Amino acid sequence: MAEKRLGYPHLGLGVGLRTVHFDHILQHHPPVDWFEVISENFMDSRGRPRYVLDQIAERYPVVMHGVSLSIGSTDPLNFEYLGKLKALAREIRPRWISDHVCWTGVAGRNTHDLLPMPLTEASLKHVVERIRTLQDFLERPFVLENPSTYVGFTGSTLSEWEFIARMAQEADCGLLLDVNNVYVSSVNHDFDPEEFIRSVPHERVVQFHLAGHANRRTHLIDTHDSQVVDPVWMLYRLAHQLTGGASTLLEWDARIPPFPVVHAEVLKAKRHIGTELADGAMWSADAEPARFDVGQEEAPAVETEEGEFPHPLHHIAAAVE
Ligand SMILES: [Fe+2]
Repeated sequence: MAEKRLGYPHLGLGVGLRTVHFDHILQHHPPVDWFEVISENFMDSRGRPRYVLDQIAERYPVVMHGVSLSIGSTDPLNFEYLGKLKALAREIRPRWISDHVCWTGVAGRNTHDLLPMPLTEASLKHVVERIRTLQDFLERPFVLENPSTYVGFTGSTLSEWEFIARMAQEADCGLLLDVNNVYVSSVNHDFDPEEFIRSVPHERVVQFHLAGHANRRTHLIDTHDSQVVDPVWMLYRLAHQLTGGASTLLEWDARIPPFPVVHAEVLKAKRHIGTELADGAMWSADAEPARFDVGQEEAPAVETEEGEFPHPLHHIAAAVE
């Protein structure tokens, strides 16, 4: 059996680092357990973003999360990209590096979307081989996240949780279990989200993601623009019980509210899992922001407006030549 969380630490409750919060974080040094940074935002930048990141990485644990790996594509792995990823990791020393179980393009084209994998034995073998190559190159276990999906392949023969479980075991990698993504995909594809969470190898779950989504009645869209809904918190509670707990990160990427609101949202996790932490992490019970006392005062609700996002099919790549 793999070492729990592949030996990676339990960092507590963190927040995704976004540029609109740079000034607040540098001025106030809020008591956040850790930050997740989008790798691509810092790989080619030497200006203010890197200055801010360096300041933050000195004070807080940092994890790198990418969106361009395209581990599922049939294009060759992009070693120019991987070289930059490795160089950034050498400089900011993230606790681990993650990306998504998906493909973002093919034939040299980048759709800038996280596209679903065909869930077949052939694609499983393909992705496992590439993860092994990736981990050899980066010289560390990699962590992969289940994406939200809106369409599937008629040729799929495995459930998503079977695919992810076997992928993690056979490639010997870690998992970033995005609980909101499980819920979004379960509604869009009509599967049982609890079965998904019960079926992945719990000892390999290094991290959780939480986020809000938009309800379009016929489907859900993973918009990261609002608070976490109750069914996702219930799934998170189950995932916490089954895994024994792991670093938890709130993603808020559109219509981003002030930093204390985002921080308060992830601190709601304490209601669901208590305040105990493995590994004696730095999370302390009094590390709650004063303005948004979790459990007594809700952070302001954020409305989701109808029609603001295109139908998910519009995200799918146009025909590839
Ligand atoms: Fe996520």
